[in-house]
Amino acid sequence: MTVMLAIRNLTRRFPARRSLADLLRGRPRQAVHAVEQVSLDVHRGETLGIVGESGCGKSTLARCLVRLHTPDAGSLAFEGADVLALEGPARRAYNRRVQMVFQDPYSSLNPRLTVGETLAEALHVHAIVPKADIPARVRALLDLVHLPHDAAARRPHEFSGGQRQRIGIARALAVEPHLIIADEPVSALDVSVQAAIVNLFMELQDRLGLTLVFITHDLRLVRHMTHRVAVMYLGRIVEVGPTAALFAAPRHPYTQALIRAVPQVKPGRRTTEAAVIGELPSPLEPPPGCAFHPRCPLADATCRRDIPVLEGRGGAWDVACHQA
Ligand SMILES: Nc1ncnc2c1ncn2[C@@H]1O[C@H](COP(=O)(O)OP(=O)(O)O)[C@@H](O)[C@H]1O
Ligand SMILES: [Mg+2]
Repeated sequence: MTVMLAIRNLTRRFPARRSLADLLRGRPRQAVHAVEQVSLDVHRGETLGIVGESGCGKSTLARCLVRLHTPDAGSLAFEGADVLALEGPARRAYNRRVQMVFQDPYSSLNPRLTVGETLAEALHVHAIVPKADIPARVRALLDLVHLPHDAAARRPHEFSGGQRQRIGIARALAVEPHLIIADEPVSALDVSVQAAIVNLFMELQDRLGLTLVFITHDLRLVRHMTHRVAVMYLGRIVEVGPTAALFAAPRHPYTQALIRAVPQVKPGRRTTEAAVIGELPSPLEPPPGCAFHPRCPLADATCRRDIPVLEGRGGAWDVACHQA
């Protein structure tokens, strides 16, 4: 196994808005701790799931990885190169090699361009194929995502949500990326369509040997499609491990709670999103010690005082918990 992307101690905070009252009282400006000290390896050829409740920092992490955000601290190494130091052509090469697929492809597709023009533009900007070969490559890309060739002549608004996500995926694939980061790529879609898109990701990962980071708040999605899963809580990774093992015997109390909360799909019964034990604390003032301690049944004095680090135990399965 080769490490493609090595994330080390990545941290990103945002200045919080201050109310007038705060300002008048001279309260110091607070920071939203969106991503705190995240360390994680992405292995070549794997699908890595990143899961956690809404607001836990998944998108901020993804945006740091594609350099839409600059981290406040930490490092990123892609295929051995220091990503944060890249400039000029090397930075553009990185931007091509690492592609993002968004939750809502509509907002990232130019509504005035036909699908064929959008794909051709990506191929042209990065000089992927000679100009004469662009139409054939556009058709090949549509084949890959199972859209008919006549889709090339239509504009984004003419497609359904699922079809638009296929276009978003085709555009990401157009520039021959080494790594795709998909941030909640099916969360805006009907459940019936979600499975088709998840299957498409699995198929592409297998056929093209893609490396895929699949980000979602929905644990059910990662269970069958990822090789490994990383669980985030309030900006930190609390557990990472091989998917099957982690689902069978989660070690972190938060992972355990998340897995218990996954609604069981029973025929004839409607499922609802089950709530995890209480509210997510504010990322403005994360609890001291282990940020999960106010919701944790096992918490003791150590947990309230010391931040647990993600133990690298030499294995592929790490957990940040004093009690595990
Ligand atoms: N651009 C921003 N400015 C200020 N706060 C932000 C910004 N982006 C995200 N946040 C805050 O950072 C935290 C993590 O957000 P996000 O990364 O979007 O989480 P997730 O994708 O897991 O839902 C949230 O509290 C969110 O409000
Ligand atoms: Mg998000």
